[in-house]
Amino acid sequence: MKILTIVGARPQFVKASAVGAALSGAGIEEICLHTGQHYDANLSEIFFQELGLRRPDIHLGVGSGSHAEQTAAMLVGIEKALILYRPDWMLVYGDTNSTLSGALAASKLQVPLAHVEAGLRSFNLAMPEEINRIVADRLSQLLFTPTTTASENLFREGVAPSRVQMVGDVMFDVILKHRESARRVQSPIDTLGLGPKGFILATIHRAENTDNANRLAAIFEGLAMVARTLPVVIPLHPRTRKALQALNLSLPPDLHIIEPQGFIGMQRLEMDAIVIVTDSGGVQKEAFWHEVPCVTLRDETEWVELVQEGANVLCPPVDAAEICQTVLGARKRVVRTSQLYGDGQAAIRIAAILAGGNGRGDYSRP
Ligand code: UD1
Repeated sequence: MKILTIVGARPQFVKASAVGAALSGAGIEEICLHTGQHYDANLSEIFFQELGLRRPDIHLGVGSGSHAEQTAAMLVGIEKALILYRPDWMLVYGDTNSTLSGALAASKLQVPLAHVEAGLRSFNLAMPEEINRIVADRLSQLLFTPTTTASENLFREGVAPSRVQMVGDVMFDVILKHRESARRVQSPIDTLGLGPKGFILATIHRAENTDNANRLAAIFEGLAMVARTLPVVIPLHPRTRKALQALNLSLPPDLHIIEPQGFIGMQRLEMDAIVIVTDSGGVQKEAFWHEVPCVTLRDETEWVELVQEGANVLCPPVDAAEICQTVLGARKRVVRTSQLYGDGQAAIRIAAILAGGNGRGDYSRP
């Protein structure tokens, strides 16, 4: 059996590292296509090195562009790869433009499609990610969900239960594998002179925050207010860096802006933070796994169970003072981890199902 895997953006490298190892363990041949959506070394190359991810067999080098430019260029490249390699399955991850392009290309050529991290919904169609995941789910023959909430979202949309496989979250597999090495890795807080639990960690990169000047200003003004009480460390995504330059805010020295981190270094920062502030999907769950309270600067989250558990507080980023108050208030929260996201064996289940061992269903085209 031959599988074509599409990756392109940071979180996909992480997820594909776990699934790739499991596919190889199940004797499945994997061809890896990197769209080039993320191309900066610290958003791409470092993940391949740290996570032992196989080098891509094909690199499209698509780079930045509008949604149409990016998606169209990927579509052309992925279609060529599908014709060349004729895989039995295509595997796509998450909700990026790389996911969307893979799903469209496979469907048009009638290559069976499997979607890892299926069924997540924010119910906000203004997010490009929501459009990408709805299309990918609609076109998939096999939908691997991380949670029962995600499976239920799909059932409500009329997806046949035989196509849906609740396997758990592959990110949890990766965390379990790398948690110990993360504890030992050099951390930027050592150079900044900060101690464990002596700082707040913030990551911001979603278009809904970076591309809206009012929201971005509220976020950074709010974080600047937080920094009067506790230092704030921000590994800055290039998208956010560009948007911030346009705002021309004056940022206090206790707001430590650092380069985007690799996966292991990021885990160490997360473990050591007293509170994590984010608009990332993956970081919300990582905060929970590391038992660190999280404040999510968005109007909604796909990971609703974290809010229900009290591990995560939603704070729509409209008012700087409110952001500051919510973040400082979150320090007292106690996060208890429960088995919300499976048992760390999600990737092995995915590989077994794809290999035909554990599947229940009829995966013919919808
Ligand atoms: C994408 C995903 C988002 C995911 C995130 C992970 C979409 C629509 N969004 O957003 O779901 O959570 O990846 O990080 O696919 N840039 C660089 N260097 C890079 C990559 C990007 O400078 O290596 C800059 C470019 O100016 C680019 C901008 O960042 O235009 C945004 O890049 P984009 O590909 O939209 O990705 P993300 O914002 O990271």
